[in-house]
Amino acid sequence: MNIAIVGVTGNVGRKILEVLEKLNFKFDQLYLIASDQSIGKKISFKKKDYSLVGLSDFDFSKVQIAFFSAGSSIAEKWVPIASKKTIVIDNSKHFRMDDNIPLIVPEVNPESLKQYKNKNIIANANCSTIQLVLALKPIHDQFKIKRVVISTYQSVSGSGKKSMVELEEQTKSILENKKTKSKNFTKQIAFNVIPHIDSFMNDGSTKEEWKMVVETKKILDPSINLTATCVRVPVFVGHAESINIEFSNNIDIIKIKNCLASAPGCKVVDEHKDGGYITPAEIDGDFTTYISRIREDKTQKNSINMWVVSDNLLKGAALNAVQIAQLLYEKYLK
Ligand SMILES: NC(=O)c1ccc[n+]([C@@H]2O[C@H](COP(=O)([O-])OP(=O)(O)OC[C@H]3O[C@@H](n4cnc5c(N)ncnc54)[C@H](OP(=O)(O)O)[C@@H]3O)[C@@H](O)[C@H]2O)c1
Repeated sequence: MNIAIVGVTGNVGRKILEVLEKLNFKFDQLYLIASDQSIGKKISFKKKDYSLVGLSDFDFSKVQIAFFSAGSSIAEKWVPIASKKTIVIDNSKHFRMDDNIPLIVPEVNPESLKQYKNKNIIANANCSTIQLVLALKPIHDQFKIKRVVISTYQSVSGSGKKSMVELEEQTKSILENKKTKSKNFTKQIAFNVIPHIDSFMNDGSTKEEWKMVVETKKILDPSINLTATCVRVPVFVGHAESINIEFSNNIDIIKIKNCLASAPGCKVVDEHKDGGYITPAEIDGDFTTYISRIREDKTQKNSINMWVVSDNLLKGAALNAVQIAQLLYEKYLK
């Protein structure tokens, strides 16, 4: 099997390479694609140097799977072209809500993958949605979730490598008492938090908040009501989420904790003492999604609160994409 990675120099693209190596994903040829400004540059992978090529020069019939992580506008133009010749796993938001394109988190809705045959395209979900549905799936199966209220604390790597550079430079400037400018954020991001990710919708919510609602419904269950507030925080890698959940059925907090403890891809770290929970700074590079602070919400019947943390570039993007490729290979391409 041959594979291509479009956007390989980006935050998600370079992590796809890392995950392919860590999971020992077997392939014959690898083609690495980035923008015109990167053509000819070299990337080393498993002790071999690969020259970067441009999209317009690449013949997608050479590969069986193409990972796209170059943003929405590139996906809109190039994925339909590539998918005539190969199967595309796209990380952008562009195709996620197309009824004919499956939106996959392998631990949650692997059965939907068969729909890839409709258009030869599989969409990877939003980073905040992936870690949310991973934690919700087992407790929804057992107790039926009625409503979710979520606040996110999303790291700057979620908006690309330029945003990471901005946080670093702004932090240094402020510490040196120099003036700062915001380029990729609407306000100062260093030493601040910004309740605004992606564009505003007519109802006052943001597109990021809308994505969490509609993607959770598509992946897990359309009957779940969800409301979100998405916030960018000055953290480089790792998204955290504070989640309040109301169930339709009677709950037992011990059973909920046991159920979460066996959630695929997740680990419960929940000790009621100093540091007995997981924070983003601890999980950079980690494949696991962590669940902490699980407790009953006594203000409402059958309700709980919890805290979920994951590496947004791994389970939130690259790892999920490679797991989709593994599932695709095992079930349909082998
Ligand atoms: N970061 C996350 O947590 C996350 C999570 C889920 C989904 N996503 C999605 O994944 C996509 C990539 O995000 P990212 O954070 O990796 O962005 P990024 O760091 O800004 O990287 C963008 C990549 O796209 C390449 N690119 C730009 N224009 C191109 C063109 N015309 N042809 C070919 N390649 C081109 C860039 O290459 P050059 O280096 O040559 O410019 C770079 O490799 C986005 O759609 C994003 O929404 C991101």
